[in-house]
Amino acid sequence: MLKKIVPMAAILASLLTLGGCATESAKPMPQPSLYQRLGGRQAIDAVVSDAIGNISADARINQRFAGIGGTQLNKNLVDLLCARSGGPCIYTGLDMSAAHEGMNIRNDEFDALVQDMVKSLDRFKVPAREKGEVLFILGKMKNAVIGH
Ligand code: HEM
Repeated sequence: MLKKIVPMAAILASLLTLGGCATESAKPMPQPSLYQRLGGRQAIDAVVSDAIGNISADARINQRFAGIGGTQLNKNLVDLLCARSGGPCIYTGLDMSAAHEGMNIRNDEFDALVQDMVKSLDRFKVPAREKGEVLFILGKMKNAVIGH
């Protein structure tokens, strides 16, 4: 009788172990956030600084920014993109609606700013997937930015 019990126990134990392994390996690997895939805050800062350079040189919209210190805007934009892409930053600026209140920003001006951003994403060779995700984040803000 004991002979029979021992192998049964051994089989049971190995099944349980295998079961444990199977459960373990079925766990999905955590996917890196957009923030991580972009290369972290420094990489976002590099793109944003470059984009602010494009915006300053863009006759379609640069008058909008006349007399505005770029440093705080730069920091706010980096914080915002960092936070929205899953990074550890805290955005302390105004929400998008309040930040653009009373400016009556037009659709074509919004598009111009996004194009200036795309130029920088391309200059830094941000891959298509990440570029698309950044543009999606910007696109979601459109209604809060324009027309009021
Ligand atoms: C998705 C697109 C945009 C994003 C993410 C964005 C983001 C921001 C942020 C984070 C600020 C700073 C808010 C604060 O100081 O608390 C800001 C301010 C400002 N934005 Fe935008 N913006 C966008 C589109 C535009 C467009 C299209 C224009 C004009 C063509 C514009 C003009 C301005 C101006 C002039 C300020 C400065 C306000 C001030 O300091 O008095 N923005 N924006």
